[in-house]
Amino acid sequence: MALPPPILLESSSQSFSTLQTACLKDLAESYTLTSIPSNYAYSSPEAVHLTDPVLSQEIPTIDLSLLTKGTPDQRSQIVRDLGQACREWGFFMVINHGVKESLRARMLDACQAFFDLSETEKREYAGKHVLDPIRCGTSFNPTVDKVLYWRDYLKVFMHPAFHSPDKPAGFREVSSEYIERIREVVKELLRGISESLGLEESYIEKASQLESGLQILIANFYPRCPQPELAMGIPPHSDHGLLTVLMQNDVGGLQLQHKGKWVNVDPLPNSFLVNTGDHLEILSNGNYKSVVHRAVVNNTAARISLAMAHGPSPDTAIAPAPTLVDSENHRPAYREMKYRDYLQLQQSNQLNGKSCLDNVRA
Ligand code: OGA
Ligand code: NI
Repeated sequence: MALPPPILLESSSQSFSTLQTACLKDLAESYTLTSIPSNYAYSSPEAVHLTDPVLSQEIPTIDLSLLTKGTPDQRSQIVRDLGQACREWGFFMVINHGVKESLRARMLDACQAFFDLSETEKREYAGKHVLDPIRCGTSFNPTVDKVLYWRDYLKVFMHPAFHSPDKPAGFREVSSEYIERIREVVKELLRGISESLGLEESYIEKASQLESGLQILIANFYPRCPQPELAMGIPPHSDHGLLTVLMQNDVGGLQLQHKGKWVNVDPLPNSFLVNTGDHLEILSNGNYKSVVHRAVVNNTAARISLAMAHGPSPDTAIAPAPTLVDSENHRPAYREMKYRDYLQLQQSNQLNGKSCLDNVRA
């Protein structure tokens, strides 16, 4: 593989403009980097947050088979567990979800194969606009990110209209199969979550017009990083949709904020990690908070994570469920906004740990 020009490491202004159009993977893997380019490094005091104490706490586990096939008692227990997980954590692991291990493995391989494409091949998909159906790139939004993130990504809108890059071979087939299965899991979870809020089982599905809701694949590639203490994979943020379903290769890095502390997420084998997004917070009138999370990097192995974001239909305006609002104690905490407008707002700003929800608070 061709060596990148050494100037990348010598001049930060040069490296910034070069990397805006490129991806990080080739730079990180093409030769032995011993330090990271300065535009990826947090300087003190901002870097202090990377050495925050991190806890290893058990994250709630939801057995999906009990929600779909359990006895009425088992189902009500899982609905209560789901409610508690959403209220206290905004985050849980799903087991016995019925998605085959072989399908998960093929999907991970397909995404790895995408990142392994040459830079020229990937550039074809370097979309410009947040609503472009296929978009790959580096960092989060390099035109506004003050420090670049140690991450390449591929984002593909897969529902209601299915899109797929043509390369690598097989990506289209495996991803269309994968998203169908994941959407089923999400529908079941949203039914349980609606019930846990005291709403009709299909409330969230209907209010968000889930049949034409956006389902977006976000594949993240975090190369091995020679100075993980100075870099960040994805900075603290919340997800914009209703629920995100994440799986990863066997390398950790995801952390979530729980009661003001960072917690390492160490998923059970073959489980999915599910987190609440901004639109679940809005629909639930703040009963379920959208959880803040981030991804750190490491100096031993590259990490891949696949986040499937599930949101309302883009033209649907979302507001708190009327039954969770009253004129006395539970005023609507958020203003109504179309999901499309919210997406645009979130994606065009920096991910700076501050929630985009601040823009819709009533
Ligand atoms: C995301 C995200 C976390 C991870 O893509 O929104 O939070 O572990 N990813 O990669
Ligand atoms: Ni996220």
